[in-house]
Amino acid sequence: MLSRLVNQALPLGPTAKVLVLGGGYSGRCFARLLNAFGTTVISTRRHPEPNSTDLAFDSATSVQPSASDLEGVSHVLCTIPPSREGGDPALDDLGPLLNNISPVWVGYLSTTGVYGDRQGNWVSESDAASPGQDRSRRRLACEQAWLNSGLPVQILRLPGIYGPGRSVLDGLKSGRARRINKQDQVFCRIHVEDIAGACLHLIHKAASGHAPTIVNVADDEPTSSAELMEFGADLLNCNLPAEESYAEASQTMSAMAQSFWSENRRVSNRLLCKDLGYTLLHPNYRIGLLDCLKQDLHPEV
Ligand SMILES: NC(=O)c1ccc[n+]([C@@H]2O[C@H](COP(=O)([O-])OP(=O)(O)OC[C@H]3O[C@@H](n4cnc5c(N)ncnc54)[C@H](OP(=O)(O)O)[C@@H]3O)[C@@H](O)[C@H]2O)c1
Repeated sequence: MLSRLVNQALPLGPTAKVLVLGGGYSGRCFARLLNAFGTTVISTRRHPEPNSTDLAFDSATSVQPSASDLEGVSHVLCTIPPSREGGDPALDDLGPLLNNISPVWVGYLSTTGVYGDRQGNWVSESDAASPGQDRSRRRLACEQAWLNSGLPVQILRLPGIYGPGRSVLDGLKSGRARRINKQDQVFCRIHVEDIAGACLHLIHKAASGHAPTIVNVADDEPTSSAELMEFGADLLNCNLPAEESYAEASQTMSAMAQSFWSENRRVSNRLLCKDLGYTLLHPNYRIGLLDCLKQDLHPEV
């Protein structure tokens, strides 16, 4: 629950003004956390709702925020993924504007896909990136572009994002979930509220001089997809889909799904949780899915 995060987090100072580039799933959660503290947040969307305060920004068109829209912005979080061509939509279009406002912190949400396949071994920020997929190579190029931008950038590398309205529970309810068994395969994940909590924590740490360039934001327990599904089905008290072997299932998987299953790694959160002292709200999928079950039934406002 976001209210629990509000209790454990520290607010930003009264003059802080935060720009969220891409008010999607993670961006909205971060904005809600900051709003709970009364911090001013402006978010961009490609197509803002008619009566919302969101700013329009779409790299596919010439619609962009103006310098006056961004006046006074002190912190920036970018959630916008790389373009198909490999450029960074936010940096390519708004880089000069962002440099002009001189933010004290810029967070860039990246993916742990840049580590590539590690055959199930642990991987940490000190290991060199070794992307195996084109989309991960594009992502690494965007990380580099942000790091070369002259802005005070921190890269947050995320595994699969889940949370209310976006978890295995939704797949089970809709009947789309597939229970695939691939020996020794695990996936890492992070609850969306812990992305928001980690961003706020990293902002405070950066202000006190502790700002590692790259930080993994993952929970404590890499887990197989089948184990997660079994727990989800228990929570929902529903039947499990029939088990499929990976060899069988991969015949009918999308190329994107196959690329996820072709990589196996355990992503360490030691830097975030031990060295930088962030306490995960949802340290494993059991706690996280229980939270999803509650929030799916009774959404927080
Ligand atoms: N989903 C995962 O499991 C996962 C795992 C690791 C990393 N990531 C990465 O983490 C980041 C946050 O993920 P998320 O799931 O919160 O993403 P999301 O809900 O898809 O939000 C992405 C945001 O980027 C905006 N956006 C996309 N293309 C744009 C463009 N060309 N110009 C301007 N704005 C654009 C979207 O605008 P609209 O609001 O108008 O749609 C949206 O607000 C993304 O970069 C994602 O690739 C995701």
